[in-house]
Amino acid sequence: VENLDLAGRRVVVSAGGTREAIDPVRFIGNRSSGRQGVALAQAAAARGAEVTLVAANLAADVTDQVRTGPQACAVVQVESTAELRDAVRAAGAEADVVVMAAAVADFRPAATPDAKIKKVPGQGPAPIELVENPDILAELAHERLRAGQVVVGFAAETGDATGSVLEHGRAKARRKGADLIAVNAVGSGRGFGTESNEVTILDGAGDVVGLASGTKREVADALWDAVTKLLP
Ligand code: C5P
Repeated sequence: VENLDLAGRRVVVSAGGTREAIDPVRFIGNRSSGRQGVALAQAAAARGAEVTLVAANLAADVTDQVRTGPQACAVVQVESTAELRDAVRAAGAEADVVVMAAAVADFRPAATPDAKIKKVPGQGPAPIELVENPDILAELAHERLRAGQVVVGFAAETGDATGSVLEHGRAKARRKGADLIAVNAVGSGRGFGTESNEVTILDGAGDVVGLASGTKREVADALWDAVTKLLP
């Protein structure tokens, strides 16, 4: 039987990775494939939601695939963090749920010249001054574009001397103020660019409310299960 527990709900999912222009031809980017975000969008559509996917630099064939078929989603394509923020907030104003699955650049070049930066023979590289990007997830969580809106984030963590993957995830959950944070361990072939995923779902207080592993679609469905429990 079909599960249509998101019927009548509007959801926004961001996916992919933002690119920050250094000049007209160069950028600072990241290796996010966007697969987990796409799986979230398609899983929500399959469960009856009206979905807007804010796609940051996804491959063209992936974007085409998301736009078509029985689980079709509206797609808004963006490049930079500023564009992603505008698109998420525009679609989010009417949404019951916003999921920030995109890998957002923490910093961007302070200025972007109109012309390509030239290499001057004999001179060393010019430094690139960076400024901090807004934290879109924290903004959404603290402002709430709409009463009762459920705000969900991701945290890709590695364990280190200052704490385990889960400890870092807990601290992030509390800091960001989102209703749910999906924490995944990255590094050593896990997470980025792979087909499967393993996440621990935390609530805003950092308490574990779910575990999910398997394909990115299975992880997506586990996350929507946790989201539906929070919907009014
Ligand atoms: O702080 P960190 O980048 O690890 O947090 C990851 C979560 O925050 C993801 O959900 C990501 O989409 C979101 N994020 C954001 N704006 C930023 C940085 C991260 O919305 N500038």
